[in-house]
Amino acid sequence: MMKRFVPFVLVVVISMGSSGVLTSSAGSPQEAIETGRLLALLLDAGRVTIGKNQALINDPAKGDKGFTPEVFAQQVIAEFKARTGIDLNDLDTQPIPEMAKPLLARLLEESKKTVATYQPVINIKGVKYKGLIPATFGTETSFRFQNWSRVYLKQTAPDRFLRNPRNKADAFELAMMEKLADPSYPRDKAAILSEIDKQGRSVRIMLPLYYGQECIGCHGGPKGERDITGHLKEGGKLGEFAGAISVKLSLK
Ligand code: HEC
Repeated sequence: MMKRFVPFVLVVVISMGSSGVLTSSAGSPQEAIETGRLLALLLDAGRVTIGKNQALINDPAKGDKGFTPEVFAQQVIAEFKARTGIDLNDLDTQPIPEMAKPLLARLLEESKKTVATYQPVINIKGVKYKGLIPATFGTETSFRFQNWSRVYLKQTAPDRFLRNPRNKADAFELAMMEKLADPSYPRDKAAILSEIDKQGRSVRIMLPLYYGQECIGCHGGPKGERDITGHLKEGGKLGEFAGAISVKLSLK
C-alpha cells in the first residue's frame, strides 16, 4: 500500500496539536498544515452542527424552524471553539497562521450560504426529509469554497462505501484512508495525517471521521437496507472509520 505514494512523500506526521501556536515564518509548510487542519475541523464543525439539528430540520410537524444561517453560525463557532480553542468571532487576534484567517472566514461564509439555500425547503411543513444532512452540507460547502479559494477541500470515503462519486478519493487519499481505517490506528478525533510533497510545493492533510450514534441511522445496519435518503446502508458500526476530510494547500 505504501508503495503507491512513496514518490510523493517526504514526511508523514501525526499531529495531535490543538492550540495552533506557530512560530515559523509566513507560508511555511507547518503553517500550511495547521491551516489545512483548521479548515478540515471547521468543515467538520458544520457537519456536526447539521447532525445535531437533524431532528429539528426533519420535523414534519413544524413550519418555520428558526434554523437560520445566523443561528447555525453561532453553533458552528461554539463547536469549533470547543475543539480548537479558536474564536472565529475574533479572528484577527487568534494565535493562528495569518494565511488561515481569510480562509476560515470564507469557509464560515460558504457554510452559512449552504444553510441559507436550504431555508425554503427546511421550513416546509409536512415534509420529513429535506436533503440537508451533514454530507450534503459538506459536499456543497466544500465545492463552493474550493471554487473561490482554489484550496482543495473535500470529504471522501474508501471506494467500498463511497456514496457520491464527486467525493471519490484519489490514490493518495485511498492510501491514507487504509491507514486510518486500521483498527489499531489511534481514534483521536483531533489527529490528522499530513505530508509535504517532495518538491515542497504543497501539503496534504487528512482528518479522519468515525461513525457516531448520529450516523448509524444511515450508514449502519442492516447492510443493504435503504436509509431515509434512499442510499444503501453500509453496515457501519459505532466508532468505525467512516471517511475523511481532505485538504491540499499549495506552498507557492
Ligand atoms: C440522513 C442520512 C445520513 C446521516 C445521518 C449521515 N450520513 Fe453520511 N452520507 C449520507 C449521504 C446521502 C451521503 C452522500 C452525500 C452526497 O451526495 O454528497 C453521505 C456521504 C458521507 C461521506 C462522504 C463520502 C461519500 O460516500 O460520498 C462521509 C465521509 C460520511 N457520509 C460520513 C458520515 C458520518 C461520519 C456521519 C455521522 C456524523 C454521517 N455520514 C451521517 C447520508 C447520511
